[in-house]
Amino acid sequence: MSETILITGAAGQLGQRIIHHLLETETVPAANIIAATRDTAKLGDLAAKGVATRRADFDDAASLEAAFKGVDRLLIISTDALAVPGQRLKQHKAAVDAAAKAGVKHIAYTSMPSPDKSLVTFAPDHLGTENAIKATGIPYTIIRNAWYMENYLHGMPHNLHSGTWYTATGEGKISNISREDCARAIAASLASNTSQSATYTLTGTESLDADKIAAVLADAVGKPLKVVSVTDEQLGQGMRGAGLPDFVADMLVSADANIRAGNFDLVTADYEKLTGGKPEMLKDFFVAHKTALIA
Ligand SMILES: NC(=O)c1ccc[n+]([C@@H]2O[C@H](COP(=O)([O-])OP(=O)(O)OC[C@H]3O[C@@H](n4cnc5c(N)ncnc54)[C@H](OP(=O)(O)O)[C@@H]3O)[C@@H](O)[C@H]2O)c1
Repeated sequence: MSETILITGAAGQLGQRIIHHLLETETVPAANIIAATRDTAKLGDLAAKGVATRRADFDDAASLEAAFKGVDRLLIISTDALAVPGQRLKQHKAAVDAAAKAGVKHIAYTSMPSPDKSLVTFAPDHLGTENAIKATGIPYTIIRNAWYMENYLHGMPHNLHSGTWYTATGEGKISNISREDCARAIAASLASNTSQSATYTLTGTESLDADKIAAVLADAVGKPLKVVSVTDEQLGQGMRGAGLPDFVADMLVSADANIRAGNFDLVTADYEKLTGGKPEMLKDFFVAHKTALIA
């Protein structure tokens, strides 16, 4: 019998692409997929394809009880609620509790690399959620997504414009993966019907330091980029000066510190294990997004 798979956060960028790959790449019948979101009005396109839509808001426990009814396999997409400390973990725990109450048979979750030793401000949310899932005794698939390549589309256009990239990553290396590849691999894991518990870390095939990333970027877009090393304090001051909210500046500084500490220097074969293919290379991602990068 075919399983019913529910994806939370279905209106988000990752959720949209996971459902796309479930339907188109894994050819899961639309009738076996439930797309859950805070606002089902945003899911008209999926409903038109025969995907059921349900309202699920992690801040509203009653919505989760109804949403998770009859679900075999649940994917909890981590939320973007980072502004209020503790809120995201509370949200995720509410989703895990509701899954256990609803009798969900398998829980999947989008986490981050090495949340147990990560210096990133939001790492405790991911570690706490992973532990809450494990504590239910329900078989699980934890998918730890590396730092998206898409994150470079936020700061790099400005850096390329000025010709300078201020970074506190020192000589630390990072392996990035595109959001699209995360979606592809997560869809493959959801469609696998596995009843085993497993933890995957989705990374690219190479781990690069800031000098190398800058060189790859400069070559891809045809513009020079100089790397300037700064301290955490200088980086934070610069970001606040540019108008970033404190929690965003703190998060970005902590990400640089995490790279510097070597905690993002991790290359796995998990993408290939799940999909049978290779993830996109950073240079190809930069070439594909050249217009946005030099805008
Ligand atoms: N690895 C990385 O570099 C990286 C980068 C950015 C984000 N992330 C994480 O990955 C997640 C998905 O990424 P994305 O690119 O798809 O981000 P996004 O487009 O900003 O999506 C945010 C997601 O949070 C969900 N959400 C927010 N509040 C919620 C609530 N109260 N209850 C249930 N869901 C809620 C949204 O669901 P609906 O709108 O459908 O309700 C949506 O799926 C993010 O939320 C974040 O945790 C990772």
